[in-house]
Amino acid sequence: MTRRAVVRGVGHYLPDRIVPNSEFVESLDTSDEWIRSRSGIERRHFAAEGQTTSDLATRAARAALKDAGLQADDLDTIILATSTADLTFPSAATMVQAALGMQQGYAFDLQAVCAGFIFALANANALIVSGQAQRVLVIGAETFSRIMDWEDRTTCVLFGDGAGALVLEAQSGDGNNTDRGILAVDLHSDGRFKDLLFVDGGVSTGTSGYLRMQGKEVFRHAVEKLATTAETALATLGLSGKDVDWIVPHQANLRIIRATAQKMGVPMDHVVVTVQDHGNTSAASIPLALSISKERGQIKQGDLLLLEAIGGGLTWGSVVLRW
Ligand code: UT7
Repeated sequence: MTRRAVVRGVGHYLPDRIVPNSEFVESLDTSDEWIRSRSGIERRHFAAEGQTTSDLATRAARAALKDAGLQADDLDTIILATSTADLTFPSAATMVQAALGMQQGYAFDLQAVCAGFIFALANANALIVSGQAQRVLVIGAETFSRIMDWEDRTTCVLFGDGAGALVLEAQSGDGNNTDRGILAVDLHSDGRFKDLLFVDGGVSTGTSGYLRMQGKEVFRHAVEKLATTAETALATLGLSGKDVDWIVPHQANLRIIRATAQKMGVPMDHVVVTVQDHGNTSAASIPLALSISKERGQIKQGDLLLLEAIGGGLTWGSVVLRW
């Protein structure tokens, strides 16, 4: 018997305020046509004033626990992937822990920007497979609207706020590719590329700063690195793109999503796409896409999923997961 980290529940939360592309046209030299054609984004959600990342995360966590039929008391661990924690410290994860009324176990944030949920899943898997944890709540939650420079048309039209969560649970499998749960992980970072995508504030500046991105360069790395990490993770299982039921990619740009699927030989009707409705929600984008695709009736128990993402650092990676 092989110990596996299996998905028991999924949920998400999106703030009420929906901002269509047309709203940016009032204040910026941009157009709905430019945003749609270059990124695939049509609208995004923005958090209300005073609504924090831990608020969004708590709502998604409650939805995932409900879906799993579990209480906060049933969890050992919370891992919250975010780059927009409410405060420098304590972690947003401990705020979620308190909001859920969870007094046992431990909670921590994990910061790998847009690849954060992939890194969080990899860590949750390691905790579960090693026997250190039985049930881990893995959340991706962001309020990127708080780090937008509203005068920078090259970035502020691309991002949105939201949260998604999975409950992972230790279950035993047969040790082969038919097992449910996380089957393979491939992670990378390369700090030489830190200037391509960063926030120009933090403890060293005494400000929270704004997101800065060399979009074209990040695009180039994304198209090159995402298919490679996906194929590497699948190859460890003797699998390839043709074996995948669904690619659930980081939702940054429809052109990147299409190019990656094409490189892997996966048709677009096997790719979950939510970028048109959410924009880029960084670490929240994959769990949001998982939750929405389950609601849409796309992913079903037993399906083989390939999750992949790239973000600031650069950080990138993929997870192969049987739902
Ligand atoms: O989540 C982390 C990973 N992030 C990503 O994956 C993002 C990767 N990058 C991208 O998605 C794309 O590079 C962008 C959507 C950011 C930009 O698309 P692009 O096709 O690479 O456009 P570009 O940056 O080459 O800009 C083309 C033109 C430029 O004008 P010139 O220099 O050709 O005159 C920009 O100034 O479009 C201009 N532009 C805009 N025009 C209207 C840039 N932003 C806008 C805008 N509205 N909002």
